[in-house]
Amino acid sequence: MSEEVDQGRRRLLTAATSLTGAVGVVFVATPFLASWKPSARAKALGAPIEIDVSKLEPGSMLKVEWRGKPVWVLRRTPEMLKQLEKATPFLLDPASDGSVQPAYAKNDARALKPEYLVVLGVCTHLGCAPMPKFEAADVTVSADWPGGFYCPCHGSKFDLSGRVFKGVPAPANLAVPPYTFVTDGRILVGSDSTQSA
Ligand code: FES
Repeated sequence: MSEEVDQGRRRLLTAATSLTGAVGVVFVATPFLASWKPSARAKALGAPIEIDVSKLEPGSMLKVEWRGKPVWVLRRTPEMLKQLEKATPFLLDPASDGSVQPAYAKNDARALKPEYLVVLGVCTHLGCAPMPKFEAADVTVSADWPGGFYCPCHGSKFDLSGRVFKGVPAPANLAVPPYTFVTDGRILVGSDSTQSA
């Protein structure tokens, strides 16, 4: 008799435990699955962004954010473009062979249109933000400075195409994101599928 009661209790307890386990799985699994659905905000953060450069003066730079990273658009003057040649002998990766950029930016100007440099403003050493130092011979960098970007964290230097100089800790040129010109005055960063240049 007591044997039968014990068997009955055991079955009841086993069923209750299984039910609790099943409910527990449902509660744990629901937030896990929800976290895999990209929110509208997350989608927006990864989406391409359009930048109006129509009012950007020659020699000036615009800063925007794309995917949580700073993107710089520098409108270079003819003099700035000439400075690139002077810097070339002192660069670590002048042809951008070991650097990150789309194929159409693997050139001295590292750009679709030489006038506009589009780069990520993130030092390739440890991720600090380099400072614009566009003036040649800027003594806050060095007397023979050809103009470019200077990272204050550990002294890495980049030319006006974001190409890294030899003898500094940064191992590569500033990265160029994918981009295209939607019109002469508008750049789409994050997508080059409509590239027309
Ligand atoms: S992070 Fe730029 S030099 Fe180290």
